[in-house]
Amino acid sequence: MILVTGGAGFIGSNFVLQWCNNGDEPVLNLDALTYAGNLANLQSLVGNTQHRFVHGSICDSQLLAKLFAEHQPRAVVHFAAESHVDRSITGPEAFVETNVVGTFRLLEAARTYWNSLEGAKKNAFRFLHVSTDEVYGTLEPNDPAFTETTPYAPNSPYSASKAASDHLVRSYFHTYGMPVLTTNCSNNYGPFHFPEKLIPLMIVNALAGKALPVYGDGQQIRDWLYVEDHCSGIRRVLEAGTCGETYNIGGWNEKANIDIVNTVCSLLDELAPPASRQVIHQQTGKKVEHYAELVTYVTDRPGHDRRYAIDARKIERELGWKPAETFDTGIRKTVAWYLANQDWVKDVINGSYRDWVTQQYGGEKA
Ligand code: NAD
Ligand code: DAU
Repeated sequence: MILVTGGAGFIGSNFVLQWCNNGDEPVLNLDALTYAGNLANLQSLVGNTQHRFVHGSICDSQLLAKLFAEHQPRAVVHFAAESHVDRSITGPEAFVETNVVGTFRLLEAARTYWNSLEGAKKNAFRFLHVSTDEVYGTLEPNDPAFTETTPYAPNSPYSASKAASDHLVRSYFHTYGMPVLTTNCSNNYGPFHFPEKLIPLMIVNALAGKALPVYGDGQQIRDWLYVEDHCSGIRRVLEAGTCGETYNIGGWNEKANIDIVNTVCSLLDELAPPASRQVIHQQTGKKVEHYAELVTYVTDRPGHDRRYAIDARKIERELGWKPAETFDTGIRKTVAWYLANQDWVKDVINGSYRDWVTQQYGGEKA
């Protein structure tokens, strides 16, 4: 079996669902259910014994030791993190606690367990650390995309905490010989994306007639990858990656933020025309004819990185992985998913998704 951390979050839950759809190996899912964890993402697995959920933190060394000893995972796939840059600016401590200290505690528990293994089991063990392109800092317009050898230059407390965790993971390979793998991925989008991040926030606000807040001049560039492609890339690295190596994962889809927002608005105009839903502009009180009327430029994010771009040639060359979705197909699926899952959105917005722990799933308490 494999141990997944943070498997109730956006990418982690997509990974767990994809894992269960592509085989029968059990998955133990350890998640602290912070505001970003939502067990409704895993509703389709209720009653499926392939998936076992444990409510607990990667900072809890005792719990980690117990889980490794009891479940003997052949691999760890580590998603758990504080992930939102804006939250890291207003409250950086949680990022150091989870991303740095939590990753350290998880590494220590994994090392103790790995040391207890012998022979083939020891050789086959893997610790896959899921990281971000933000550790490489920011690019000028004509700079080449980030490769695996681009020097680290994190600019936000979030990216600095992820960079620190990447360095710890790297050190466990060089110092202890632990079989680790690291992936650095660009911006994900798709189902179950928490509506504090750009794409889901724009969809949710537009449908409610709320302002679509675009930071600064909206010309910052991000490199977008459909979340299921990220998950398939991680599975491929877990299966065939070389220990101690890092792999960039991306979809060659650089877009300016304002273009993303306008694309989302056009798709919504087509799939959920504002007139048919009687959307009212909450600031002017007028009927909305096109969702783009809601675009509002707001104060920029402090230290806002201008451009990210991932060079994904290594994973393609060495492991034969390529994304399945184009941006056009992925964003259409995403907008359609949000329209078809308005109850999920409603429960997130009104906070009732947090009751799921007790109500729906019977999560095993640490
Ligand atoms: P998310 O914020 O949606 O989910 C994080 C999950 O981790 C939540 O379920 C939360 O409850 C859980 N968690 C937080 N603290 C925990 C702790 N102490 N113990 C156990 N669980 C804890 O994040 P995401 O967007 O799904 O990102 C997952 C990982 O992928 C992160 O490591 C992030 O840095 C990385 N990443 C994200 C993106 C992206 O675009 N979202 C891109 C590249 C890499
Ligand atoms: O690059 C990978 C990273 O992508 C991940 O490591 C992070 O976990 C993930 O959150 C994401 O970080 P970003 O800061 O790029 O994502 P976010 O959706 O917050 O913002 C995307 C861009 O849109 C960014 O340039 C800021 C801008 N933005 C964001 C929000 C929430 C706006 O203009 N308005 C907004 O309201």
